[in-house]
Amino acid sequence: MCRATIITANQDGTYKAKFRLSNFYLPHINGTSVQHERPLYYVHSPFPTTDGDAVFFGPDTYFFLDFLRQSQHLTRAKPPRTTVDVCCGSGAGAIEMSHVYKGSKVIGLDLNLRALELGRVNAKLADCAIEFVESDLYAAIGDRDDIDLIVSNPPYIASSSDGEVPVYAAGGAQQGLALPLRLVEEGLKVLVDGGLLMIYTGVPITIREPGRDPFLQRLQQSKGAELVEYRIIHPDMWAEEVGIGAYADVGRIQVVGAVMRKRKSKEINGL
Ligand SMILES: C[S@@+](CC[C@H](N)C(=O)[O-])C[C@H]1O[C@@H](n2cnc3c(N)ncnc32)[C@H](O)[C@@H]1O
Repeated sequence: MCRATIITANQDGTYKAKFRLSNFYLPHINGTSVQHERPLYYVHSPFPTTDGDAVFFGPDTYFFLDFLRQSQHLTRAKPPRTTVDVCCGSGAGAIEMSHVYKGSKVIGLDLNLRALELGRVNAKLADCAIEFVESDLYAAIGDRDDIDLIVSNPPYIASSSDGEVPVYAAGGAQQGLALPLRLVEEGLKVLVDGGLLMIYTGVPITIREPGRDPFLQRLQQSKGAELVEYRIIHPDMWAEEVGIGAYADVGRIQVVGAVMRKRKSKEINGL
């Protein structure tokens, strides 16, 4: 393993692994869980995930997949032709979608090449045919006209000016909301009319306005899409981040799941 650089020696004589293998087990949620024929294993970066291009797999991944399962009923009438998991990381969302929608083409998009490599390995382990493509959000998607479903667990932690927040976490300005909001806005452009966008993300809740959810407000103002579902999944994630730096005025980071349905252009025009 040393020769293959899967493990490397530390100076104190201990060893560090380059990868971590996690099993994924999310049994019966309201009877809607997918019955995998065998346990799923995900290869990802080991803890601590401090490298800039670390490949994330963690509690958010579990919450994200649970949210996708809870939202499946919205696609029952019309299974998606093409599903896109944008910011796919280890490929967990794409693999879940590939298992649920057997006939759907599934595409995983990420700008981290290491994530794409591991996504391909994980898809193979899960026996799924998924296309993984390097892309800044949807840039590499081209002009497809069959994208019925977009799913995402994007980065949502406020980026720091010293670049210390790894790519998998850095959600940019607006206390990390900038990237998730861009993902929704640009996603509505690539979706077909009536298509669904399911996003799991974190929202900074300030101490001064504890009742105001800025992500919910922005989604409710959307002209191009109707907010179909919105639920709080965790009221206080990544508590160690709050109260300091970009989060000086933040009391908690609330994690939510939102489902948007793109309106038909005639609806937008009021016809
Ligand atoms: C929090 S991780 C989530 C990974 C995976 N969706 C999951 O649930 O485990 C966010 C992922 O978004 C990717 N990412 C960050 N900015 C991106 C961008 N502008 N376009 C595409 N992917 C991006 C990161 O490389 C990382 O793999």
